[in-house]
Amino acid sequence: MLSFNSVSFTYQSGGNILDNLSFNVRPGEFISIVGVSGSGKSTIFRLVTGLDEPSAGIISLASDQNNQRLGKVGYMPQQDLLLPWRTILENACLPLEIAGMDKREARNQVMPLLHEFGLAGTKDDYPAKLSGGMKQRVAFLRAVLSGNPLLLLDEPFSALDAITKLSMQEWLVTQWERRKSTVLFITHDIEEALFLSDRIFLLQNKPVTSVDVIEIPLGRPRTRSDLHRPEMLLLKEKLMSRLQSEVTV
Ligand SMILES: Nc1ncnc2c1ncn2[C@@H]1O[C@H](COP(=O)(O)OP(=O)(O)OP(=O)(O)O)[C@@H](O)[C@H]1O
Ligand SMILES: [Mg+2]
Repeated sequence: MLSFNSVSFTYQSGGNILDNLSFNVRPGEFISIVGVSGSGKSTIFRLVTGLDEPSAGIISLASDQNNQRLGKVGYMPQQDLLLPWRTILENACLPLEIAGMDKREARNQVMPLLHEFGLAGTKDDYPAKLSGGMKQRVAFLRAVLSGNPLLLLDEPFSALDAITKLSMQEWLVTQWERRKSTVLFITHDIEEALFLSDRIFLLQNKPVTSVDVIEIPLGRPRTRSDLHRPEMLLLKEKLMSRLQSEVTV
């Protein structure tokens, strides 16, 4: 679905972020990316989307034969980026309109999805009126409407209270299973990563030279109590101590 082959990336201002980094993502996987603040997680997403280009190495997307990555993934950036002057329905229609669809047809497609995404009744509201969780749903719906099978979600639930977060996680798993998409999910929340993922990519070192790949030994469907199994508690400990050692280095 996605591969990084010996990818290096340096910001023009001189920050060397990735150095000879390789990893693979298989179709249908749910991958969480964790790493301390500033380690390069959002940078990896910008490279996948094609908003930035690597200084060396190759990024391959299954959906793209011509090495043109722009517009080939559904991307939910770290901020929700809803347009304040467009209603929720108009915001959700944006990717379809950008793709050249007639406005009326776009509305017809989006209306049933608003319901499915728990946004029924908000279609004529402006973003300012919505709660953080609802805004994140609109941003997620917009990423899904891009029609791309690979979704990049950058800390989508970081602004939510603990209870809302749990219900959004379950909602996300349902959406992911229903749509059979492939998800890359950035989070600082280890329990969230353990609950959601097939595999976790832990970014270490600066610049990032490799990802530490952690397979989650749980089937699906999962319940919260699975996180209390001894092997999961050990895994959590291991992840926490690795992240901690990164912070103190
Ligand atoms: N446009 C930019 N120009 C120069 N340096 C940048 C730019 N964007 C990010 N950086 C630097 O690159 C490094 C990685 O940034 P990135 O945003 O990828 O981190 P992150 O892992 O997503 O962090 P966080 O968890 O805080 O979101 C940081 O040191 C940051 O200061
Ligand atoms: Mg980030």
